[in-house]
Amino acid sequence: MAATLHHLKDWRFSIDPQGIAWAVFDREGESQNALGRRPLEELMSIVERVEEGARDKTIRGLAILSGKEKGFIVGADVREFEQFKTAAEVEDAIRPVLAMLDRIEAMPVPVVCAIHGFCLGGGLELALACHWRIATRDDATRLGFPEVRLGLFPGFNGTVRSIRQAGALAAMPMMLSGSMIRATAARGMGLVDELVPSPHNLAWSARKAIERRRRSKPAARIKTLLRLWPLRGFLASKLRAETAKKAREDHYPAPYRLIDLFERTGGNLRTMKSEETKAFAPLMVSDTSRNLRRVFRLSEMLKAQAPKDLRFHPLRVHVIGAGVMGADIAGFCVAAGMEVSLQDLSEEQIAKGIAAQSKLFARRFRTKAQRDAAKARLIADPAGDNISRADVVIEAIVEKLEVKQSLFKALEGKLKPGAVMATNTSSIMIEDIAGALADPGRLIGIHFFNPVAQMPLVEVIRGAASREEEVRKGCAFVTAIDKFPLIVKSCPGFLVNRVLAPYMMSAMQRLEKGELPEKIDEAAKTFGMPMGPIELADTVGLDVCAHVGRILKLSGDGTRLERFVNEGKLGKKSGQGFYVWKDGKAVKAEKSFDKAELERLGRELVAPLVAECEKCRDEKVVETADLVDAGVIFGTGFAPFRGGPLHYLTSLGHAALHGGARQAAE
Ligand code: NAI
Repeated sequence: MAATLHHLKDWRFSIDPQGIAWAVFDREGESQNALGRRPLEELMSIVERVEEGARDKTIRGLAILSGKEKGFIVGADVREFEQFKTAAEVEDAIRPVLAMLDRIEAMPVPVVCAIHGFCLGGGLELALACHWRIATRDDATRLGFPEVRLGLFPGFNGTVRSIRQAGALAAMPMMLSGSMIRATAARGMGLVDELVPSPHNLAWSARKAIERRRRSKPAARIKTLLRLWPLRGFLASKLRAETAKKAREDHYPAPYRLIDLFERTGGNLRTMKSEETKAFAPLMVSDTSRNLRRVFRLSEMLKAQAPKDLRFHPLRVHVIGAGVMGADIAGFCVAAGMEVSLQDLSEEQIAKGIAAQSKLFARRFRTKAQRDAAKARLIADPAGDNISRADVVIEAIVEKLEVKQSLFKALEGKLKPGAVMATNTSSIMIEDIAGALADPGRLIGIHFFNPVAQMPLVEVIRGAASREEEVRKGCAFVTAIDKFPLIVKSCPGFLVNRVLAPYMMSAMQRLEKGELPEKIDEAAKTFGMPMGPIELADTVGLDVCAHVGRILKLSGDGTRLERFVNEGKLGKKSGQGFYVWKDGKAVKAEKSFDKAELERLGRELVAPLVAECEKCRDEKVVETADLVDAGVIFGTGFAPFRGGPLHYLTSLGHAALHGGARQAAE
């Protein structure tokens, strides 16, 4: 092979004796490929070299592949997004990339793209500029446009090229949802032209495609019929209605701007190409996108809490307690690939807990063989026979100190050396449980949230005596089951429940004073919370709320909350709480409220939560202010587009919020 372009750092380039040019993207010093400035500049020099070779007939085609085992391209390099101050700067930076993609598309020799693993965002946009796309059928291969999750939409002409290849009916929902699809689905849509069984087949198939001068066909005419305005207008209004169910325009404008763009210019893809940049650039420098990018960085920071140098690779988990939490923790660990044994006082309870996991397995696994394998990894263990084999033992039994103490006392000697010993307690101090142990340093908290499968965060609690090594192993375990670990100092309520409690209690105090529950909940949602505090209280269970309130000394006798609990009105689970519940939904009175009033009330409602976050930061309940924000976003769903409670506070200016907090307390 004649190697050329020696200056490349992120790409390997060669031309083989058959005249096929191979460009292998293998970004220097990174485990994954992201399209940053340097890789794009280097790709440009590859494009120029191939154009030259095509002219003098020394190059017959170009194949683009990845040199990373993990995937093709994960997207544009998000880290570089922060450098832009104005929309004009964004446009200036994008223009040369668009010109390069156009040159790839116009290349006189075939350009083939070979995909294995993630092919996302900018990576998919590059692939779409090629003439032929080959992907592995492998489960790891996923294609998608996740840009909306960062408050953006595809900006390297991916809007136009995906519509051209797949038609608007398929391409628009894919861009609007940010979902990732498998290679077979992408083939069905027309985004991929050829499937191969494994990465080993890619180079051979790419060579064949170049020799045969394969060229992908755009979507069939019926799919592009949307060139006609009335049809486009109709689809746009349907897409707006669908989007509105998931995200409000004032909080998340990007999907709405994409629909506008499509409605305005989708009839002429050439116009849409230039208009895409004009609509994209302001989003890139908007607060919403900056904050969502911050949330992305915070998620990376949480993942980094898991130590890389630790030789602890948990595979076997033993869960004690098969109630609401224990059964779901067991099921979730199984879905993440672990072998799990589940223990409870009665075999019936274990059987019930195991049976309840079929729903999760049905969602997670496509084939019956995979579901059967998952079921086989979850076993009933009423006598605790598997304790001595487990790498991690998690206790999720009743919330009573003495019961937990005696359980751990009996457990301690049975664990194998090096195994993690953890409690899922939500309100008992770790050191209180550990006090009864021969080795109190071994116990940590691994605190899951309900519902286990949905909540991305798990608090790893460091008790006063917990050994650092055990905390680190706890984080490694949480990462191994694909959750975000957050190391939290043992204190009442830990981080998430501690900041949620004053927010929910003050919302309930407003109820006492006669505010409507519908108005309170709507105001919280107007602020950007996923669910209002009153509906949340009913969903969590009023008994649980009252319990947490008492621990944190926030609720007392005589409140409506305590009265309801005494009357057995526990919220969703009993059919009545602050709301009446029917078919799993709160029955709410149809009312409309003044928007400005809702906005004011929303700010006031979150003020106690934000104030508690400041206390947690000052007391170093978690290591840094950013980790407070990360924990509260991923543990409570706190309005991601605001970048976290403390970030929100900074953006408001301290004075304004403390005014709000005082007002809220009055
Ligand atoms: P639950 O009452 O639904 O389940 C507890 C289970 O433990 C029952 O099935 C019971 O039979 C079993 N059990 C009691 N003593 C046992 C023993 N000595 N050996 C074996 N099994 C025993 O309780 P839930 O809600 O699942 O809570 C469990 C733990 O998780 C508690 O510490 C709670 O604070 C914590 N937690 C609860 C959350 C929730 O939303 N329910 C959220 C996060 C943590």
